[in-house]
Amino acid sequence: MGARLLEGKPVAAQIRNEIRQGVLGLSERGVRPALTMIRVGEDPGSVVYMRAKAKACEEVGIRSAILALPRETDEQTLKSLLKGISQDDTIHGVIVQLPLPGHLDPLRILELVDPRKDVDGFHPLNVGRLAMGDPLFLPATPSGICELLARNSVALEGTHVVILGRSNIVGKPLASYLSLKRTGLNATVTLCHSFSRGLADITRSGDVLVAAVGSAGFVTASMVSPGAVVVDVGTNRVPDQNAASGTKLVGDVRFDEVKEVASAITPVPGGVGPMTVAMLLRNTLQACGALTGG
Ligand code: GUN
Repeated sequence: MGARLLEGKPVAAQIRNEIRQGVLGLSERGVRPALTMIRVGEDPGSVVYMRAKAKACEEVGIRSAILALPRETDEQTLKSLLKGISQDDTIHGVIVQLPLPGHLDPLRILELVDPRKDVDGFHPLNVGRLAMGDPLFLPATPSGICELLARNSVALEGTHVVILGRSNIVGKPLASYLSLKRTGLNATVTLCHSFSRGLADITRSGDVLVAAVGSAGFVTASMVSPGAVVVDVGTNRVPDQNAASGTKLVGDVRFDEVKEVASAITPVPGGVGPMTVAMLLRNTLQACGALTGG
């Protein structure tokens, strides 16, 4: 059996078109959404992702700026910077790209982001609001996954979604998001991880399996129920002698074997990644509308 390919690129392009219309709408009021992205250090993955986000912003008419700070930047400097951004009416969205260098505690830094401009939804207030069923911003990767499934007619309501991985960026917010009492969501959620006993039994129990463990090829065919929908959030760089860069991007799922078992599967690259970026743009548009009285 060959699984249906759930491609993120065309769906993300469609969403960017919708956002472009929203940006045009705001321009009639003389407002232009603006996103500021902060990176501390030169994590190679972060450099690539931020470039992709900036390009996507440009494409839809959102102004964007990348603030690339030296690796040694301290908490006080970030605090002053984020305070300035909070008070700057011309900036509507801000993200602090993760991972941060080891001397900076991400939880302390994310607390310094203005919750009204927190388009990643990582501030504790926004995490809490999502967990309590009243989100201000829909977290980008979870909402990107659900939008990709919805626009491919994969219904989630009442299904059992197994999430592999409990990160603050994907696993935990996705569990909260899928649990929302909302049309199109209302899923039954199991969150499992490396400590879960009988992991393969758990993953095989899912109608939908979301892999977000950050380990190349972790999910094998024997961990997937025949006919399940498999969503691969992994972005792992592995050596590749055929690539000019010497590396290639692979997911958490062994695509070639799992596609023979699953009914549908997202590719890496070109699956969840472009959706996450599109949802970030959507949140920036929303933040701009809210902050400028639209
Ligand atoms: N690092 C990996 N994914 C993300 C994301 O969605 N947002 C931020 N800020 N950092 C990340």
